[in-house]
Amino acid sequence: MKGKDFLTLLDIDQNKLMELLKLSLMLKENLYSDCLKKKTLAMLFAKTSTRTRVSFETAMTHLGGHALDLKWEETNFVKGNIKDEARVLGLYCDIVMVRVFNHNQTLKIAEGCEKPVINGMDDLYHPCQALADLLTILEVKKSFKGIKLGWIGDATNVFNSLMLGAKMVGMETVAAIPEGYEPRIKTNATIVRDPKKAAREADVLVTDTWVSLGFEKEKEERIKVFKPYQLNSKLLSIAKKDCIVLHCLPAQRGYEITSDVLDSPQSVIFQEAENRLHTEKALLLDLI
Ligand code: CP
Repeated sequence: MKGKDFLTLLDIDQNKLMELLKLSLMLKENLYSDCLKKKTLAMLFAKTSTRTRVSFETAMTHLGGHALDLKWEETNFVKGNIKDEARVLGLYCDIVMVRVFNHNQTLKIAEGCEKPVINGMDDLYHPCQALADLLTILEVKKSFKGIKLGWIGDATNVFNSLMLGAKMVGMETVAAIPEGYEPRIKTNATIVRDPKKAAREADVLVTDTWVSLGFEKEKEERIKVFKPYQLNSKLLSIAKKDCIVLHCLPAQRGYEITSDVLDSPQSVIFQEAENRLHTEKALLLDLI
């Protein structure tokens, strides 16, 4: 790590990224022990979660430690000074994972807390998801060399993190994103309007929800804009025959992805979900 925290992929270099992925593969083979015995992870959620909550807690259990599941609105983060509250978490716990609404809150928590802080997703980044996505691609494709990744749809926090990771491992990325919905961060991806351009010759196709948390008021408008950006069997047929499909879940079946694609043999979406557990174990071991 470049510092004590893992808030974005920018907090690690290419060597550390590959080291974490290799360690994740070892951990997936059950090569781990009670090395985090008596260690506590505080998990602070201001938003809903299935995968992040359960994978981190299970990771701590497998490694012999303990995880605290804290709901933002049931703590004094709602009324106290955010840095003071974060400082106190660091006095009791060995590591903190946070899922908050905006990246400034993530930064404030990391600033206030003396212990390592992991970004469990905010409006800008979802680095833990990107680790699992990269591990899944590496497992299936064996190497990142020559891999073309096509992104279809909204430039979400997952997009931002995966694009940073793709650049680090040298994957070519083409992203089909509608006008007016361009990424909020600078990325290496070639941005196109036509989803077919992103899908053509793709080794990996990825999409994400059209209505991320916080955009519920724009739901109807977004569904109209993103309709041509659906990852369906017609679009998948343009990609390479052995193209795999990723989605961070939860998916809105029939919107950004159709059920036949999500459940197809080319989908590695549930392998990707499982890989959250293995990459997070690697991350916890590295940070604590
Ligand atoms: N992909 C992901 O982060 O899932 P949850 O929102 O359920 O944690």
